[in-house]
Amino acid sequence: MAEIDDSAAEGLSNFTLKRRTFMLGVASAGAATSVAGCAVAVGGNPGTSATDTRFRVNGKQHSLTLEPRASLLDVLRDQLQLTGAKKGCDHGQCGACTVHVDGRRVASCLTLAVKVHNKSVTTIEGIETRTGQLHPMQQAFIKHDALQCGYCTPGQIMAAIACVKEGHATSDEQIREYMSGNICRCGAYAGILAAIREAALEMRSRSHA
Ligand code: FES
Ligand code: FES
Repeated sequence: MAEIDDSAAEGLSNFTLKRRTFMLGVASAGAATSVAGCAVAVGGNPGTSATDTRFRVNGKQHSLTLEPRASLLDVLRDQLQLTGAKKGCDHGQCGACTVHVDGRRVASCLTLAVKVHNKSVTTIEGIETRTGQLHPMQQAFIKHDALQCGYCTPGQIMAAIACVKEGHATSDEQIREYMSGNICRCGAYAGILAAIREAALEMRSRSHA
């Protein structure tokens, strides 16, 4: 990944500052535009017509009447204005839409929203502490410059947190294997691996995992 020299010319410094501000926003809430798995189904009993669905998102209870075909990703983005989870492929191939349902990572583009009835959803917007402190995984992504355009980053971070909690981040090989469903078209994999390696240690020490 290209390095930006903070001590170069003033113009470049300004650019760097803006880029870092942008990256902070991306890592903490998700931003930018599009890219490229995870595909874990969520259990439930979806109806066949508009269905009253109640679920929690980032600790807040929601009650919505939803079409059975509506994806969780579309409901989060279009109805709840939680745009951190990104639509990359919309086919379960890229991982950009990764969120947690009852603590398990899912591809929200492949998850019917009605199937999260009575479940708890966590998105990238919901992983900071109540005092606004970034999650160790967010901090590690920033520290290791583990992104460029940032489009894949919210999904990468949500998958990475789950990867650690699953006990699948004990070696570089394991991290690569269990993060293989999350594609980064910018090729920021070296930084992503370094960030997960460090955050896994921090999460274990803080008992986040
Ligand atoms: Fe690509 Fe969901 S948008 S896996
Ligand atoms: Fe651009 Fe991963 S797709 S940072």
